[in-house]
Amino acid sequence: MRKPIIAGNWKMFKTLSESVAFVQELAPKLAPFISVERVVCPTYIALAAVADALKGTGIGVGAQSVHWEAQGAFTSQVAPTMLQGLAEYIIIGHSECRAYLNETDETVNKKVKASLAYGLKPIIAVGESLQQYEAGETQQVVGGQVRAALSGVDAANMTNIVIAYEPIWAIGTGKSASAELANSIIGGTIRSTLNDLYGNQVAQSVRIQYGGSVKPENMQEYMSQPDIDGALVGGASLKVNDFTLLIEAAAKAKGI
Ligand code: PGA
Repeated sequence: MRKPIIAGNWKMFKTLSESVAFVQELAPKLAPFISVERVVCPTYIALAAVADALKGTGIGVGAQSVHWEAQGAFTSQVAPTMLQGLAEYIIIGHSECRAYLNETDETVNKKVKASLAYGLKPIIAVGESLQQYEAGETQQVVGGQVRAALSGVDAANMTNIVIAYEPIWAIGTGKSASAELANSIIGGTIRSTLNDLYGNQVAQSVRIQYGGSVKPENMQEYMSQPDIDGALVGGASLKVNDFTLLIEAAAKAKGI
């Protein structure tokens, strides 16, 4: 069985002290739910302190992006070597990075390969825009993003990869995709793309999250779908109670 994974993407929220105070309050509440993998992704500035505060709690830490070079003259960027020992996961290809920070399928692929080379686990975000959704292009766009992100990644590395299906029209809008729709893209488009690339065993073993306006009220519905293995959560991950309810709902829906 695929272990559910819920990751909180804090985006550009919370100062250093707010981040530490938050995880200190969160950790004891999430402690009982060891059957669910729980991850928080703070800003770079809070990463080391949050990682330190979460030591021994079983809650993992992720970064929100990474550069593909090991070091170099890349003002503002953070190298994978610098994240080793601090972050276990790296969100790569988030639609906000694609929209505002020139992230492309090519840079996503470079970041995925660099992360794996340094023992970091990518959470690869894919998803179509509203225009693409309305034009019926979802399968083609999402399948293409998955293929591009994984170009040159071998099957042995797929155990270290998580994919997040995040329709752009559902992120931060309050307009979530229906659980059935999300499950059909995840179970249909994404797993069949993985099947084409790596065969059925890999396709069935990779964990795939849904993301986009996930909240305590709709979490159980998503997690009751057979192909949805977790969530990448923005807004609702910024409140201790909401995040706790999400983890609780995941455990309940999967009966674990
Ligand atoms: P949201 O964000 O939960 O606030 O919609 C999800 C994401 O961007 O990962």
